[in-house]
Amino acid sequence: KNRDIRVLRAPVICVLGHVDHGKTKILDKLRRTNVQEGEVGGITQQIGATNVPAEAIANQTKMVKPAFSIDQIDFPGLLIIDTPGHESFSNLRSRGSSLCDMAILVVDITQGLEPQTIESIELLKKRKTPFVVALNKVDRVFEWEGNQHKDIKEVVQAQAEFAKNDFERRVKEITIRLNEQGLNAALFYENPDPRTYVSLVPTSAITGDGMGNLIALICTMCQAKLAPQLRYSEELQCVVLEVKTIQGYGTTIDVILVNGRLREGDNIVLAGTEGPIVTQIRSLLMPKPLKEIRVKGSYDEFKEIKAAQGVKIAAKELDKAIAGLSLRVAQHEDEISVLKEVVHKD
Ligand code: GTP
Ligand code: NA
Ligand code: MG
Repeated sequence: KNRDIRVLRAPVICVLGHVDHGKTKILDKLRRTNVQEGEVGGITQQIGATNVPAEAIANQTKMVKPAFSIDQIDFPGLLIIDTPGHESFSNLRSRGSSLCDMAILVVDITQGLEPQTIESIELLKKRKTPFVVALNKVDRVFEWEGNQHKDIKEVVQAQAEFAKNDFERRVKEITIRLNEQGLNAALFYENPDPRTYVSLVPTSAITGDGMGNLIALICTMCQAKLAPQLRYSEELQCVVLEVKTIQGYGTTIDVILVNGRLREGDNIVLAGTEGPIVTQIRSLLMPKPLKEIRVKGSYDEFKEIKAAQGVKIAAKELDKAIAGLSLRVAQHEDEISVLKEVVHKD
């Protein structure tokens, strides 16, 4: 077993699902933030990114049985991408899911599969992305008694009869709807074959039920399925998520650095509405761990950043940058013209 965390990069995990099923709230619970309450109309309108260090994962999975310990985590943390669920943002769901290693499909257990749930499933199937389903808002199950300090399997088993029946009826209904989408699915602790069945994890972003199990399951799956894919590579893989103006920095771009590294002063080439943009990284910024990059706050400045991370880049000439496409770094002056060609063809 590979214990050297320096050789693995953080897995990129994308959160997808229908509007208001609780994607951002789940991340708020994990981060101990209130990003969702600050959103206009409670609707996510941009892609976000949050670095979750291994220590935070270890802290929040203590109730999981059998015990899940930090020694089991071979990577430096998770890089979690939040996406909007509103129907008008399918380009952002596509962008977010295109660069992830694994996904969390959030389904409101009281609502079941809805149009953007199905759209998200289509995206995941198309790219063969492994995913788990968070059956969120389990606290809304009839007479549900939550306990965030217990393993969710025990919480389910401890429910009184009415709550248990309501829960089981909803799980069964959603399982059938998933079957109709061509997916086998089962509660994660009853999953007969994790290679062919999608795992369902009951969660509540409000009470915290099942959150530890969700995070532990993602980590376990990443290690079981993805270790070769997560091997850190110096070959740059970097996608522009958002273009935005930040006071004090001018126009900046938020990027997901999936592999390789970026340095202050690097000459970068990226797509722009009026042709390829060539510019130099002036500031390389990151929010603190467990902070959302899309929330204006304080950013720390770095000379160099190694993947995988969500990074904000400040540079001149970014006003016309196009989101959704790759960013390249020219190691030498004479590479610039070649990269302009490459970017032009993207
Ligand atoms: P979009 O990003 O706009 O697609 O929505 P979202 O999926 O991020 O959902 P969001 O986090 O904005 O939550 C929508 C509403 O559901 C908010 O009012 C949350 O407080 C509420 N909510 C989210 N998770 C839960 C949960 O587990 N239980 C309960 N009772 N409410 C929840
Ligand atoms: Na919302
Ligand atoms: Mg949201």
